[in-house]
Amino acid sequence: MITDTNQVWITLQIGALTSIVVYLTLTWLMPGRIPCRRLALNSSLGYDPKKTLSQNRLLGLWRLLTGYRLAYTMATLCLAVSALAKTGTFYLLRYLVDEVLTRSELVGRLTWVALGFVLLAGLEGGFTFLSGRLAAATAEGVARRLRNYLFDHIQRLSFTYHDRMQTGELLERSTSDVESLRNFFADQAIGVGRVVSLFGTNLAALINLNPSLALLSIAVVPIIVAMSIVFFRRLHAVYEAYQDQEAKLSTTLQENLTGVRVVKAFARQDFERDKFEKENWAKFRCGKRFFTIHSLYWPVSDVICGLQMLACVWIGALRVMDGSISVGTYVAYINMVLWIIWPMRNLGRLIVQMSTGLVSYGRVIEVIREEREPLDEGDCHPAGALRGEVVFDHVGFGYSAEHRVLEDIDLRCAPGQVVALLGSTGSGKTTLVNLLPRFYDYTSGLLTLDGVDLKRYPRHYLRQQIGIVEQEPFLFSRSIRENVTYGVQRMVSQDEIEAAARAAAIHDDILTFPNGYDTVVGEKGVMLSGGQKQRVAIARTLLRDPRILILDDSTSSVDTETEQEIREALQHLMQGRTTFIIAHRIQSVMSADLILVMDRGRVVQRGTHETLMEQPGTYRQVYDLQASIEVELEKEIACVAK
Ligand SMILES: Nc1ncnc2c1ncn2[C@@H]1O[C@H](COP(=O)(O)OP(=O)(O)OP(=O)(O)O)[C@@H](O)[C@H]1O
Ligand SMILES: [Mg+2]
Repeated sequence: MITDTNQVWITLQIGALTSIVVYLTLTWLMPGRIPCRRLALNSSLGYDPKKTLSQNRLLGLWRLLTGYRLAYTMATLCLAVSALAKTGTFYLLRYLVDEVLTRSELVGRLTWVALGFVLLAGLEGGFTFLSGRLAAATAEGVARRLRNYLFDHIQRLSFTYHDRMQTGELLERSTSDVESLRNFFADQAIGVGRVVSLFGTNLAALINLNPSLALLSIAVVPIIVAMSIVFFRRLHAVYEAYQDQEAKLSTTLQENLTGVRVVKAFARQDFERDKFEKENWAKFRCGKRFFTIHSLYWPVSDVICGLQMLACVWIGALRVMDGSISVGTYVAYINMVLWIIWPMRNLGRLIVQMSTGLVSYGRVIEVIREEREPLDEGDCHPAGALRGEVVFDHVGFGYSAEHRVLEDIDLRCAPGQVVALLGSTGSGKTTLVNLLPRFYDYTSGLLTLDGVDLKRYPRHYLRQQIGIVEQEPFLFSRSIRENVTYGVQRMVSQDEIEAAARAAAIHDDILTFPNGYDTVVGEKGVMLSGGQKQRVAIARTLLRDPRILILDDSTSSVDTETEQEIREALQHLMQGRTTFIIAHRIQSVMSADLILVMDRGRVVQRGTHETLMEQPGTYRQVYDLQASIEVELEKEIACVAK
């Protein structure tokens, strides 16, 4: 017995010293080689999330660890060392009770035993810390990389995808679901490693102590595992519903914040509050169910593990009484059983919690799986700029197969010509011009640019060549200067910025702002008037110097005089460039080389102002109507002036 325990003692000392050396080496002596430090600096690590996709979610999660696997494996190994140190403590305890306490001549060893306990505790703590550090670097690194990827991926998805996907849903998947995955790696997956190593080392030590008692101590394992699986299944479904509901809530909130002005203007606060409360109530119910099932796990497993503990204490005590095991073995045994039961219960908890990570993985890969808009795809790469000849040959388009929006569009436009589109609201004008930069691809007929099918041009090239002032321009919450120079991929001088602003008739307005061009315009340009916003957007597009310019109702919020000013400046600027102008005012389109009148997705009239005025039809009706309104207006102004 003495030799036996001495061996244990020596093994412990050697083991402890080796571990200390390993630990110190890892943490302090080779700081640059610690994987977590290196990993923290490198966010890509040759990783392509599309390759992490897998039907098997656990496999997918393992693939997400690409580049971090070594660190993660080391984190798990550190936990195993820490578990060994814990089990070593129980051996030392047994030695203390059976050898030292029963023999007065060994009293001098007490100091060593005490030191042994301190050392083992230090080792256990040190390796747990190291493991936590590696796991944190892994989890944070994986989450950071995923967030970066999702941000970039989402902005590269097609217009069609963004049309159908809710912003709140995308927000939720890039934040809350990534957070669940971070938790999965920081807590749950590494927790499983901890549990398995504690369970494994203590079970091995128990078998070494007494095989029959060891068997008894794991009798409830199958019950706990079965119970965890039942809980896991139930929680999985409930958590999925919970996350969906959270996404709905986030969409409602986001929409409300975006449209807060409309809500106030229509005094719909109560309606919106009720709507939000309804969604919030649904989330409350999902959350309550989720956490109830979750919290039910503990008492159930407590009862099962309590019974197990009772049986172990009882049967172990009987063995001590009949002399088949020593008191020291009994004390060590009880401690080890405690450290077998703890991991068992935790394994169950972890399995249950892992369902959240798995659900989030599923939600995140749904976004990752979406194909990006291929910006560089296309076999026609012109060396220089476009000439700007646009030909629509019986072009048709629909946002979906059932919803045709454009039919049989025929249009021939020579380089440098100005084409105007006029038509009732919803007639397809915006849709038609959106086909040119390939925001959407036409579905029938043929659309060519400089004689080449539009689909053969890379989208990236087209978007560089075509400048579009959107119907509802969006400004970033940055300075006017940053907004105007947005998308210009070259150094621009103040003179160039001012020239663009002058052409858009906004320069003088900007000078009246407190910080001139450095004035920050607020979210979505809220600090500017509608007309000012439109003109900043025009300046932004002009500065890009596009070969084809599209103005989609871009002067609708500008007074007639300013519009005239812009038109004159544009006429000068746009010489030799093809221009598409969409407008509702006849005055804005009169001077165009070709005017198309649209109705329900078709061109119903075409010609110049003069030819269209000669024939009966929508154009002349609109002209007469607008002219009579203007005459009325002038009469009224004259009356007021008198
Ligand atoms: N992203 C979209 N997804 C599905 N349908 C759309 C989308 N955008 C527009 N539509 C539909 O296409 C039709 C044409 O819309 P479009 O925006 O081209 O009209 P418009 O002539 O520009 O009208 P307005 O003068 O009001 O700007 C409308 O019926 C509209 O409902
Ligand atoms: Mg439109």
